Amino acid sequence: MTTPPPTADGSAPATADGSAPAWLPDEETLSRLAGEFFRALPGQPTDMDMDMAAPVPDGHPQGLPGQSEWPAPTGLPVQSEWPVPTGLPAADPPPPAPTAGMSPPSGPPPTSAPATFAASAPGLAGPAPEVPAPPVAPGPPPVAPSSAPARLVDPGAYYFLTEAPGYPAQPPELPGFGHLGLPPLPPLFEPEPPTAAATTAPYYFLQGPGVPGVSEAPGSPVGLLLDPHPAFDVRAVRRDFPILSELVNGRPLIWLDNAATTQKPQAVIDRLVEFYSRENSNIHRAAHELAARATDAYEGARKTVARFVGAGSAEEIVFVRGTTEAINLVAKAWGPGHLRAGDEIVLSHLEHHANIVPWQMLAQQTGAVIKVIPVDDDGQVLLDEYTKLLSDRTRLVAVTQLSNALGTVVPVEQIIEIGHRAGARVLVDAAQSVPHLTVDVTALDADFLVFSGHKLFGPTGIGVLYAKREILEDMPPWEGGGNMITDVTFERSGYQPPPGRFEAGTGNIADAVGLAAAIDYVERIGLPNIAAYEHTLLEHATEGLRGVPGLRLIGTAPDKASIASFVLDGYEPAEVGTALNEEGIAVRSGHHCAQPILRRYGLEATVRPSFAFYNTHEEVDTLITAVHRLATRRGGHH
Ligand SMILES: Cc1ncc(COP(=O)(O)O)c(C=O)c1O
Repeated sequence: MTTPPPTADGSAPATADGSAPAWLPDEETLSRLAGEFFRALPGQPTDMDMDMAAPVPDGHPQGLPGQSEWPAPTGLPVQSEWPVPTGLPAADPPPPAPTAGMSPPSGPPPTSAPATFAASAPGLAGPAPEVPAPPVAPGPPPVAPSSAPARLVDPGAYYFLTEAPGYPAQPPELPGFGHLGLPPLPPLFEPEPPTAAATTAPYYFLQGPGVPGVSEAPGSPVGLLLDPHPAFDVRAVRRDFPILSELVNGRPLIWLDNAATTQKPQAVIDRLVEFYSRENSNIHRAAHELAARATDAYEGARKTVARFVGAGSAEEIVFVRGTTEAINLVAKAWGPGHLRAGDEIVLSHLEHHANIVPWQMLAQQTGAVIKVIPVDDDGQVLLDEYTKLLSDRTRLVAVTQLSNALGTVVPVEQIIEIGHRAGARVLVDAAQSVPHLTVDVTALDADFLVFSGHKLFGPTGIGVLYAKREILEDMPPWEGGGNMITDVTFERSGYQPPPGRFEAGTGNIADAVGLAAAIDYVERIGLPNIAAYEHTLLEHATEGLRGVPGLRLIGTAPDKASIASFVLDGYEPAEVGTALNEEGIAVRSGHHCAQPILRRYGLEATVRPSFAFYNTHEEVDTLITAVHRLATRRGGHH
């Protein structure tokens, strides 16, 4: 990979002879297109203030939550009284050898794309290898795809078709499943076979209604188009993300690997610099000024997260390293006290490995059984089958709200309600959903909800476990050390109440503060606006990719967000990823840490473009054109 450094003024670097690079349109075309584009934006905002850095505390904070303010624990048991995990069985048998040509889940980024593709790459589809696992009661076999969704769309419900652009203070009040607060976007997929031709024309959104390439909302009244203009200025938003001006292989970076991690706005970067420049200290334990500033910033971040997910109080928010650590925390701290041999843990077929492996370990430890909710051929969970799986032995249901491999938006409200009726606790893996959908733990009545900061435009190494207060209060710690205790002798220790009880040692203070800055940023744009705009991107990508010969979309549920997984005849997914990288396009190819669901489709890997609010329709066009070119080249590939 060659990545010419950007020039200081952000302009494209000149070629060796000083002329503009070939991919850059001439200046006249550029300014004409830009003029047309901005004229086409209805009342588009002009000078948006996107400086979203949180205010910096500038004096002694009042009422610091010092240790003495924690209520003294009454009769908290000593650590040894908590159920101690019995020895885990010997290490799992080694996983099946990967099939030749299977993409590694997350290898280092390619440094150079090979000029020719591996000629011996086997086909994609193959029998699913055996996966060693603890006791799993398989769910009923998958049944025929569920019936088509209702096709009636109320155009009045699309606030973004009628409202002037801007940041609405309040999201519209909307009913709905799977995405509280999200406008009832039309289904991505129709039951009819695909007919749409590829959308390859650039700037299609500058064209008028009814022209080829403008996507019509399925099921909408004739002539009603989903408006691809976001209710925010995507150009201004892009300027907030310095990395988006990088060049990769001489082309402008097109970041379509948002499901793996998101890029960071300047507001987040600045907040980290501010923290380390003016506030850095350990927290909770000192009387000095910087300890006060750092503690304020950290506890302020907890309040921001609580507000963001609709928690009742900041005490219900535990900072962890990420989604994976949050799920492990629940499995290790909550699990052993609540599961016995024969009890059941229900997962969906869509789960990320992070929401499978910790439960397998818990099942091995306790003798519990894992049951799996099947999905239909489109990739949506089968609620009827789910209901049948539940029993009075079901203790926990753990499901993703948005599948990282297929993009399915799962109706978690219904899953929670049905799970609660069976007496189970329900954990929502919101790693993929929080960057795209409004999530409200109180409205959902989720018992646990987990996510990672880095997928939400925040730093790596910071994540969140939300749990209902009564659950956290009843939960023993999982790690011991400083910060989580009230008093220590060699005979016994007393523990802090939540959330401190679950945050042993020095936490990731700066990145928690950075996460709060990311949340502030996202809230300024507004998740309903983000969801509506990303829907147009996904609709555009879906339509274009469906027109590529030999391309099969994996995940065709009507309710989808932000992810367009596919396989292409004649290519290994890794080859497609490498070829796209040559053009500056970053997509993930591999098993996406979700092997069970890919094997449900007879696959070991897919190519997975994934979108965020800073992506543009031109970028989608570039992707579609590049994949088209690969498909056309396929003849000579074998
Ligand atoms: C649905 C889902 N759950 C869990 C995870 C794990 O997140 P992390 O690696 O940040 O802990 C991911 C990451 O891709 C994910 O997509």
